[in-house]
Amino acid sequence: MILTLKNIKKLIKASFESQEYAYSPYSGFKVGAAILTRSGKIFKGANIECASFSLTLCAERTVTGKAVSEGYNDIAAIAISTNKNYYAFPCGACRQFLSEFNPELKIILAKSLTDYKIFNLKELLPNNFTLKP
Ligand code: THU
Repeated sequence: MILTLKNIKKLIKASFESQEYAYSPYSGFKVGAAILTRSGKIFKGANIECASFSLTLCAERTVTGKAVSEGYNDIAAIAISTNKNYYAFPCGACRQFLSEFNPELKIILAKSLTDYKIFNLKELLPNNFTLKP
């Protein structure tokens, strides 16, 4: 699946829509993420906080869980947006989690439909942990 301009816009839009269901009563910080699979399917997810703070799920892991548990682990790209106006990079734990399915995943950080940056996961996590030598 090629990351065309049309798909980039579609994915960014889906990430903003995903913020609607962010559950973030403790931080007030909403994160929306959308995954595009190689087969062209889009999944949406948001952060889910928990009174026991460390159990909080980041949006990136929520959406990855949704895609993989539906049988789609062929993830090609992820778009991430927040309710704050800046590029929010995925945390370290999420980088490792995403690398499980595609160490060269395209990561789109969006402030708006027209204001975004694209990274390759390899740039953000050059040496992912792996059990393979
Ligand atoms: N959060 C994410 O959803 N993704 C990240 O990569 C980092 C942080 C969420 C977790 C928490 O609900 C809120 O942002 C503030 O940390």
